[in-house]
Amino acid sequence: MKKQNVTFELEIYESLEELSKVDQKLMRTAVEARKNAYAPYSNFQVGAALLLENGEVVIGNNQENACYPAGLCAERVAIFQAGAKYPGVVITSIAISATSMNYQVDTPAAPCGNCRQSISEYEVKQKQPIQLLMMGEVGEVMKCNSISDILPLAFTNSFLK
Ligand code: THU
Repeated sequence: MKKQNVTFELEIYESLEELSKVDQKLMRTAVEARKNAYAPYSNFQVGAALLLENGEVVIGNNQENACYPAGLCAERVAIFQAGAKYPGVVITSIAISATSMNYQVDTPAAPCGNCRQSISEYEVKQKQPIQLLMMGEVGEVMKCNSISDILPLAFTNSFLK
């Protein structure tokens, strides 16, 4: 038997203003994208903004449904849109921000498991990591270098032969 520790580097910024200009701009776009979330059931609105290698920015927001599982998270709305519109273009970063009509979200919103899996698929497809920026409505911003950092032991196409 052998043991292995899995670690990753997480950068924590005290506020949005501490980020680089490029990252700040992308996060502000994610904040803006929250406004068009359709979240009448959870009252939890999420915005996502992707930066592509060609400079394009693609946004998404959560789209809920009376049949709850039929809804989709902001991250997947954004990444599928990028895949549909710019299929061969590398995604360099994704910024995520969440707010709620019920309380002030003051901790960074990390993507759910399904979104991690979907983002992982695109990392594998493009053979390049996607940087993640995560924020609530106020407070700290977390940054990590790759979705694989927060989805260790991912199931990927390498299993499908
Ligand atoms: N949600 C996202 O959009 N992204 C996440 O990573 C977590 C959750 C949405 C789904 C649902 O519309 C609402 O937030 C509450 O779960």
